[in-house]
Amino acid sequence: MAVERTLSIVKPDAVAKNVVGEIYSRFEKAGLRIVAAKMLRLSRTQAEGFYAEHKGRPFFPALVDFMTSGPVTVQVLEGENAIAKNRELMGATNPKEAEPGTIRADFAESIDANAAHGSDSPASAEREIAYFFATSEICERD
Ligand code: TYD
Ligand code: MG
Repeated sequence: MAVERTLSIVKPDAVAKNVVGEIYSRFEKAGLRIVAAKMLRLSRTQAEGFYAEHKGRPFFPALVDFMTSGPVTVQVLEGENAIAKNRELMGATNPKEAEPGTIRADFAESIDANAAHGSDSPASAEREIAYFFATSEICERD
């Protein structure tokens, strides 16, 4: 299995619940390393650009409202199979369908406020990491 990088976001609902550390701990316990991290408040333009693939879908305006409703943390996770591993830790998009013990099952209330984001493919990971981080902001880890 290849070492990959993936883009993760702790969304405004989870930051407001004060579970950033708990979520980071799950990444670390699963063998993922945080190689870049920052907290920021997304502008509408930033949120719309990040979720451009969903533009035009009925939930898009609410998604942008939610993602700009409070601070988020964005981080790059690195490890074997990091993209799928992070998606597995997060659980299904709809927390009601997420496996027990996953981030969304434990911390999310609804499909539109679902605690976490994770890239869904190598191409998305590359685009999403570059969306938030300059190469110089990503730290090599042993
Ligand atoms: P999507 O990329 O399908 O899910 P994921 O975050 O698991 O990759 O959708 C992006 C976000 O859009 C999702 O996390 C929450 C929101 N969303 C809704 O609010 N309603 C919906 O029906 C869908 C599909 C997504
Ligand atoms: Mg997605």
